[in-house]
Amino acid sequence: MLPAHLKGRDFLRVNDWAPEELVLVLDHADRLKARQRERVPHLLLEGRTLGMIFQKPSTRTRVSFEVGIAQLGGTGLYLAAGDLQLGRGETIKDTAIVLSRYLDGIMIRTFEQADVDELAAHADVPVINGLTDEFHPCQALADVLTIRERLGGFEGSRVAYLGDGNNVCHSLMVACAKLGMDFVAATPSGYEPSKEVVGWARAAAEAEGTTVELTTDPREAATGADVLYTDVWTSMGQEEEREQRLADLAGYGIDEDLVSLASERAIVLHCLPAHYGEEITEDVLYGPRSAVWDQAENRLHAQKALMAFVIR
Ligand code: CP
Ligand code: NVA
Repeated sequence: MLPAHLKGRDFLRVNDWAPEELVLVLDHADRLKARQRERVPHLLLEGRTLGMIFQKPSTRTRVSFEVGIAQLGGTGLYLAAGDLQLGRGETIKDTAIVLSRYLDGIMIRTFEQADVDELAAHADVPVINGLTDEFHPCQALADVLTIRERLGGFEGSRVAYLGDGNNVCHSLMVACAKLGMDFVAATPSGYEPSKEVVGWARAAAEAEGTTVELTTDPREAATGADVLYTDVWTSMGQEEEREQRLADLAGYGIDEDLVSLASERAIVLHCLPAHYGEEITEDVLYGPRSAVWDQAENRLHAQKALMAFVIR
């Protein structure tokens, strides 16, 4: 039985969901992953359509949502934001109302979180955040699914995020805190995660009896960590800052030396796409500690579970 109380719910940020709700999604993702492996049909959303609005490029998010809804018996509709009337000034409100008459769910990848919030406020169907400048909650679901799969649970685990305190860092931080893991972010000064999000994560960590720390020292963060996590230094929309970012973030990349400081069971995660020799070396990405390819696959399973729960 799927939890009826989640039907119709938006997934806009990790912080909006309770720890036990996140665990329900992860448990269902494990089940759906096993069924998919065995090619056991699981047509939980037969006849439903997910609209997928993209205002930024994507490989994983697009393909995992489109394949995911198809495996659930539904249809995914790719909607390039620039091809919609939205790109010619139709309001988000009107777009939300009209799309709700056709679709059973909307996934959106865009710049401003406020635009996703507005879409959700006016849509009658669940809205899923497929990445904004501030958050990447679907990525965080796959991240914690992978951590649980590889480490066998969350308790007693310490996650170290290294690099830019960005959208991926924000969602991961809150997810780790809610699920009872210690979290540390090592960023250069000026690249710290937002104070507001750190506040949410610390509130969740307090309830779980864990910690959320910030440091500027990547070696200190990596020492004894069970998960080393990084993301690109130049996010989509920041291309003009690339040279400055390369200079400022140098020294925060994950290489073999940093991995040697982590715990014996440590895994390395990266949401991808990767830039070899910047935030991660090719050796580490393809090395024995890397769980990056499972993590990318888990986008599919986690989002299928999420869609099965929220789409009516
Ligand atoms: N990790 C991730 O969201 O990848 P895409 O940008 O390829 O969707
Ligand atoms: N922080 C990156 C994540 C890409 C999946 C970006 O926003 O471009």
